[in-house]
Amino acid sequence: MTKSTENALHDCETQMHQPSVINQISELRKHLSNIRRQSKTIALVPTMGALHQGHLSLIQTAHQHADCVVASIFVNPTQFGVGEDFDSYPRTEQEDIEKLASEGVDCIFIPSAKEMYPTGFCSSVDLQGPARELETSHRPHFFSGVATVVTKLLLSVMPDTAIFGEKDYQQLQVIKQFTRDLNIPVKIIGAPTLRETDGLAMSSRNAYLSPAERKIAAQLYAQLVNCEADLSKNQSWQEVQRKAITNLTQIGFEVDYLELRDSQTLNLPIIGNQRRLLVAAKLGKTRLIDNIHIPAAS
Ligand code: PAJ
Repeated sequence: MTKSTENALHDCETQMHQPSVINQISELRKHLSNIRRQSKTIALVPTMGALHQGHLSLIQTAHQHADCVVASIFVNPTQFGVGEDFDSYPRTEQEDIEKLASEGVDCIFIPSAKEMYPTGFCSSVDLQGPARELETSHRPHFFSGVATVVTKLLLSVMPDTAIFGEKDYQQLQVIKQFTRDLNIPVKIIGAPTLRETDGLAMSSRNAYLSPAERKIAAQLYAQLVNCEADLSKNQSWQEVQRKAITNLTQIGFEVDYLELRDSQTLNLPIIGNQRRLLVAAKLGKTRLIDNIHIPAAS
């Protein structure tokens, strides 16, 4: 066994250790090939940093599925549109590294924009299916940017599994679809949304909310739960949707969409009886998204 293999193996098995922080794809591949040579499985958790408990729950899920956990931190410019929050997106790299270290992550990949998109870069992943409508109607560039960077991360790490949050439900379905379509050999695992005690889904963007907005923000989830209750009483979707949009608008939200969709295709009509209720709305300058499962109609 070489020294570096021994180190990688040791890193992998020790819970409280300093993770390797790696900035280059070539170095990442070398580090991981040492681990893979020992027949250890690898899970990847891609993030844009500004980590909260929701992100860390994905790391915990990753540990249940693989011997070694790799997290990436990269604020991906190609998934932000003109006038969106790329420049102001919270960047807390040192705190993030400490949080990931305390969760027993083996390796943290923090590439530069130049490493991911070198001069002359001009390719992207083209999407249809679950990428149609919803977020795409409001952020047309978004999923192509996500799919391109996630493809690059998957091909750099070559993990056995990759974990994504149901918080970004359309993103999760898009990633499941294109990894299957493109035969990328990885198992995609969805993990539940972590919420604050008042129900607001944890998000790096919650930091943008003023104290007054933060109080109102919890109503986004509350309205989803109301919709679920009304649907269970067999009220028509059109009526439930109208009422919830009116309620949200009255308290200061500008609703981009509130839609009930097939939980897998995210299209209409709903073919199976698995349904997902998805919402996106702006509160001041902050755009929030959320979603819940809606049980089968009786
Ligand atoms: P980011 O918003 O940092 O989220 C990273 C992962 O954490 C995603 O899979 C997201 O769904 C999950 N997540 C966010 N909030 C969560 C919560 N409250 N509970 C559980 N999981 C949560 O999503 C992205 O980054 C990017 O688009 C990325 C996939 C990294 C590609 O750039």
